[in-house]
Amino acid sequence: MSICYLNGAFLELDKASISPLDRGFLFGDSVYEVIAAYKKNLFKIDDHLDRLEKNLKSLSINIDLDNLEIESIVRKVCEKNSEENQIIYLQISRGVEAIRNHIPREDTEPTIFICSFELKNLPSENNDSIKAVLNPDIRWKKSSIKSNSLLANVLYKMQANDAGYDELLMSDNGFLTEGAVSNVFCVKKNKVFTPPLESNILPGVTRKIIIEIIRELNLSYEEAKIDEEFLFDSDELWITNTTKGILPVIELNKKKIGDGTKGEIYRSIMKAFLKKIEESII
Ligand code: PDD
Repeated sequence: MSICYLNGAFLELDKASISPLDRGFLFGDSVYEVIAAYKKNLFKIDDHLDRLEKNLKSLSINIDLDNLEIESIVRKVCEKNSEENQIIYLQISRGVEAIRNHIPREDTEPTIFICSFELKNLPSENNDSIKAVLNPDIRWKKSSIKSNSLLANVLYKMQANDAGYDELLMSDNGFLTEGAVSNVFCVKKNKVFTPPLESNILPGVTRKIIIEIIRELNLSYEEAKIDEEFLFDSDELWITNTTKGILPVIELNKKKIGDGTKGEIYRSIMKAFLKKIEESII
């Protein structure tokens, strides 16, 4: 049984319980982070904690722990679990209140829950290519917040899965936003494109690393609005996130992207990404 952290204590996951009056359950009044640990080394933990801090601030959720203290707890959860490679979920809700009310009390203690699962499919140059489908983006206008109100994303993933797709990409008024659980990049004539952060997308930690790599490799790059015609006509398409790393999309709405194989630019970015993971391992 894996060990988790709940409100100050480390305990077995099946012994952990939260009140049904928790605002995370009642209202989705909560934020989260997903952090990868490779050979027990937390990957890009500073970026995850920076984003968490911004998210908590934007919801006016105040916790007693600073980033160093959270990092130390996440590290302990990682150490207490035996798997070499882990995917760690850090969930913070506004907490439990005796009476259900949309307006929170000021003295409510946030609920902090951290758990870990084995990260089974590590990013690799032999990663599978995937198939995606494009749908209108039906989410709210604050998708930059990593909120647990993930109903649209859940429905989208169910829909994509039922239809045999691996991921669902979204477009708002004809312009690409992101995937149901990922950020999106495309390549056209050797230039890499991704929607800007102002497009109502999550500022992905993996997205940030990819942009860093693009600069290090001196690749041509632009953050730009991507319309559907441009998207379908791109030479390469990738999705990025913490659990999967970078995956090439070789089919969108059953239409082949580029020549329908992993692209050259994908391969060089992936190589550099794997090197960054290697360098993070001590
Ligand atoms: N999701 N956009 C959305 C909507 C996401 O849900 C995610 C990640 C990303 C990529 O963010 P990052 O690179 O920081 O993982 C972009 C995680 C994996 C999840 O919800 O499980």
